[in-house]
Amino acid sequence: MYLIFTEDDGWHTNQLLEAFKNNNKDAETAKINKSSIIIDSEPRIIFEGKEVSLKEIDGAFVRGIPGGTLEEVCFHLDILHFLELHNITVYNNTVCIEKSVDKVRTSCILNANKIPTPNTYITSNIKDLKKFRNNFSGELCVCKPIFGSQGKGLEILDDDNVHPDYENLNNVYYLQEYLKHPDGKFADWRLFVINDKVVASMTREGSSWINNVANGALCKFFEPTDEMIKLAVDSSLALGMNYSGVDIMLSENGYTVTEVNSIPAWKGLQSVYEDKNVAEIIIKDFLRVCEENRIC
Ligand SMILES: Nc1ncnc2c1ncn2[C@@H]1O[C@H](COP(=O)(O)OP(=O)(O)O)[C@@H](O)[C@H]1O
Ligand SMILES: [Mg+2]
Repeated sequence: MYLIFTEDDGWHTNQLLEAFKNNNKDAETAKINKSSIIIDSEPRIIFEGKEVSLKEIDGAFVRGIPGGTLEEVCFHLDILHFLELHNITVYNNTVCIEKSVDKVRTSCILNANKIPTPNTYITSNIKDLKKFRNNFSGELCVCKPIFGSQGKGLEILDDDNVHPDYENLNNVYYLQEYLKHPDGKFADWRLFVINDKVVASMTREGSSWINNVANGALCKFFEPTDEMIKLAVDSSLALGMNYSGVDIMLSENGYTVTEVNSIPAWKGLQSVYEDKNVAEIIIKDFLRVCEENRIC
């Protein structure tokens, strides 16, 4: 049996369930924040009121990891590690999920791998925060919650909005240079990488500077250049992803990677393709990895 850890019963989960069905595999959904584990001579997991031996689980697909206290987030990742320790494929793998849910870690990894990424300044002390703000003098800077997604909680700091939203940032301030599209457009690109290949791409055009689909951005089919394909594949490799959603922006200095998502949504991306089923491609690759793992 395959497990899908998901927080919603909506479109993505249905697409995944359909893809499992098309591949003649049984899949069940579980909410990771309602799941429990038992560590004894017969390791088990409890989900949806069922107690299941890990021996019965052929693989776990991670579609959602909810926010929570530090302890909760660690425990949810511990559950995924627990499965991997028992040779169950977790997809995306737990280590890459850990790396990418934290924007600080992603920025460090991209930069250390010489992948162009915006200049970023991070601190948890107010003195350095002030220094960083002064260094931007007159330039716009973006402040992001380090565990954020879907464009939530992002703000521009400038003369009208001098201080970040202290209450919602939990005392970690991630400031980044604002990337201005050379044509003044609000647009960026999402490249979807599976098994180190770009399998689908789109342009996202926003009505404001936050171009997330969840923020109402318009999705358009896009054929990426070789340079963008290389950036996306290199980013995915640097973070060790099985599959990923890589966000690329264009600034006056060229293309730059702003984010590498380990739990990317693909509803917007699917809408620009008629002849491609993204969920099917993901699940085929997931089943391939599970099979490889079983043989090893
Ligand atoms: N440095 C930046 N300069 C300008 N716009 C940005 C910058 N970083 C992010 N954005 C905009 O905000 C959106 C969300 O940022 P991102 O870092 O991908 O966070 P999230 O995890 O919330 O998607 C991007 O898709 C882009 O439109
Ligand atoms: Mg993003």
